[in-house]
Amino acid sequence: MHPPATPSEPVTGHPDVLVIGGGVIGLVTAWRAAGRGMSVAVADPAPGGGAAYVAAGMLAAVTELHYGEQTLLGLNLASARRYPRFTEELEEASGQRIGYRRCGTLAVALDADDRAHLRELHALQIRSGLDSQWLAGRECRRLEPMLAPGVRGGLRVDGDHQVDPRRLASALLVACERAGVVFHRSRAERLTVEGGRARGAELADGTRVSAGQTVLAAGSRSAEPAGVPEEVRPPVRPVKGQVLRLRLPTVPAGSPPFLSRTVRAVVRGNPLYLVPRESGELVVGATSEELGFDTTVTAGGVYELLRDAHELVPGITELPLVESCAGLRPGSPDNAPLLGPTALPGLQLATGHFRNGVLLTPVTGDAMAEALATGSLPEEARPFTPQRFSRTPERREGTPVPAAEPEPAPFPEEQPV
Ligand code: GLY
Repeated sequence: MHPPATPSEPVTGHPDVLVIGGGVIGLVTAWRAAGRGMSVAVADPAPGGGAAYVAAGMLAAVTELHYGEQTLLGLNLASARRYPRFTEELEEASGQRIGYRRCGTLAVALDADDRAHLRELHALQIRSGLDSQWLAGRECRRLEPMLAPGVRGGLRVDGDHQVDPRRLASALLVACERAGVVFHRSRAERLTVEGGRARGAELADGTRVSAGQTVLAAGSRSAEPAGVPEEVRPPVRPVKGQVLRLRLPTVPAGSPPFLSRTVRAVVRGNPLYLVPRESGELVVGATSEELGFDTTVTAGGVYELLRDAHELVPGITELPLVESCAGLRPGSPDNAPLLGPTALPGLQLATGHFRNGVLLTPVTGDAMAEALATGSLPEEARPFTPQRFSRTPERREGTPVPAAEPEPAPFPEEQPV
């Protein structure tokens, strides 16, 4: 489907599409593109890793709603709606379970300030037409008896579910392999640009992959490969998140679980969440730190997570702590992803998913497959074109194009969660 590369260096294959980055976004792009009949290769030294390896896997379109992110809300909801069907398809294609659990979420307040924040969030959710129910503190504790006695109220959001991101990544890897996707376990060092067109990449192991179209989907590292012209280089940055994994107690059959749904709160201004999995894992997250590519787990980070989690659910201190890790969210200037064609022919982006990579996996796969097959994004993904950060003289670097949608009624500037 495209001209072969200049045979000056070792060339491996001539796929229609080379995806740079094998996290869940790169893998879903590869899998869905292969499903549309394209030949696909993925370049990543450790496919199946990336930010999703650390992520808690909350599908929190409603409880993570923020002021000014109504356009993103539409995409988040579209992806959340696709999860049941996506899960069926992926589990069928891979033969693996991905831990999609329709458990709902309870967001609670521990003091008067948190309660005021949560009231604001609730008002925003209702104005946005979302399903969210205000509960008194005692109603929260009736739902989740392990909550601290001081809980002052909360929001019950039955539509915010969870998936296990490690299982999701593992299943996507197998589904890709079964669909014929070729993996190059090496880092893409340089984008190949010839004749004003992206034509693949040179990898750290010396391989050159020539491809008809290239997708930069390397999360917070998407801006790293050399050779990407400045005007199309994605404006992404790493935002560190430290996360803990605890082991839930085994309860006798018929007894209530330790926690039956995702529980979240803002404690002293820090968002905190506890995600109980059917596998027996309890994920506690997450810090949010602008420290570049640092993934050190710090005593301070672990202390703050445990201190805040203990305030929310005092019984967690009895649980075994089995893992601590840190990942890098791919932040973008407007907290929304960059999807689809760039101004450089042959180069597309699937990056900048920030807090929502796992949630946005199904819709990203569909949107990228469509963009790779037709050159155009589907309607719901069009507001997320990389061109909104176009670095032309008329538009300053990183300045978003004004939202296509009408802005909601003015709200207070503070962000509730
Ligand atoms: N979406 C959860 C987080 O980014 O921590």
